[in-house]
Amino acid sequence: MLKDYAVITKNENETIKLGAEIASSLKSGDVIALYGDLGSGKTRIVKGICQGLDVKQMVNSPTFIIVNEYSSQKFHNIYHFDLYRMRSEDEVLGMGFEDYMNSGGIILIEWPEHIERLLPENTIKIHISHTVEDEAHRWIKIERPGI
Ligand SMILES: Nc1ncnc2c1ncn2[C@@H]1O[C@H](COP(=O)(O)OP(=O)(O)OP(=O)(O)O)[C@@H](O)[C@H]1O
Ligand SMILES: [Mg+2]
Repeated sequence: MLKDYAVITKNENETIKLGAEIASSLKSGDVIALYGDLGSGKTRIVKGICQGLDVKQMVNSPTFIIVNEYSSQKFHNIYHFDLYRMRSEDEVLGMGFEDYMNSGGIILIEWPEHIERLLPENTIKIHISHTVEDEAHRWIKIERPGI
């Protein structure tokens, strides 16, 4: 797999498929930070990653409960955070964030801007932006440090 790369997806299914491709190279303890505006497609990527990991549970945005927990045969703990409503690092630490990070599970984080300093150095960063060309196009950049 390439270290850093960018693609344009033309609809949500292509974004989900990209997530499933990303899933194939994940290993225990990986942290994936998803950057992008409201409605850019962060949850769609998470859906795809979970499909790729063969998660059977329903994947949707955990905005009100902050973290959703899923599992698959290969990964018993998959944590999906949405930190949109979190106001400080202390608030996030107060919900036991470090225990999740040290669980050896897969960690997926929407709105990671709120905890930038708590992210490990080897975090996989995915940036999603709208494009000017088409309402349904997304420019998606994947940064994988250290490989
Ligand atoms: N190419 C595309 N990729 C992903 N989503 C797309 C695309 N084109 C259109 N969409 C639409 O954009 C929306 C993306 O929603 P999604 O919940 O994944 O965003 P989000 O970044 O998680 O938002 P939030 O910050 O509110 O959690 C969906 O309504 C989806 O149908
Ligand atoms: Mg979302």
